[in-house]
Amino acid sequence: MFMILRTMFGLVVGWIASALFGLLGRHSQGSLAVRPDRRQFLRNAALGAVGSVLALTGAGFGLLLWPNKTGAFGSELTVRAEDVPPVGAPPLRNIQGKFFLVHADDGLLALYTKCPHLGCTVPWVGPPDSPQAFQCPCHGSMYDYVGLRTGGPAPRPMDYMTVRVDEATGNVTVDTGDINERLDYSPEQATPYSA
Ligand code: FES
Repeated sequence: MFMILRTMFGLVVGWIASALFGLLGRHSQGSLAVRPDRRQFLRNAALGAVGSVLALTGAGFGLLLWPNKTGAFGSELTVRAEDVPPVGAPPLRNIQGKFFLVHADDGLLALYTKCPHLGCTVPWVGPPDSPQAFQCPCHGSMYDYVGLRTGGPAPRPMDYMTVRVDEATGNVTVDTGDINERLDYSPEQATPYSA
């Protein structure tokens, strides 16, 4: 399909280039009455076709090099109000966004599922009041409900993403491109939620 389109595009551009070059040639000779000969036409058509192929090839390479976003990770994702977990309940997991939305006493936290140790995905193992609510199955790092490290080799708590609340609807926006590191937990890390 692409080859057919490219050929048609080349022929059209060739025809336009031919007409344009012919017109310029006639104009430079001072007479608009002189028509381009067959040789001139073929040369201009060939030049136009080659030019269009080069342009399309360049555009194709450009598209190949253009960074492709995979999935929704890195963008802002919305969690509907009805999906926000109650205070102290097991978190909502968002696989695309790679976060757990936990509802602590201070508010909402979107915990990045990637362990800050070696990058494994840390699953929820619960219960919420356990010091190992999250635990890496590979190397054993453990975290409590708000992502604080309670054991294992991880160098710091789980990272968290910026959360915003739409007061009118109760919907929550998690910015999965804005990931914050921390050394401890403080209430300001949580976003109050009252909807
Ligand atoms: S990657 Fe962090 S403990 Fe496994």
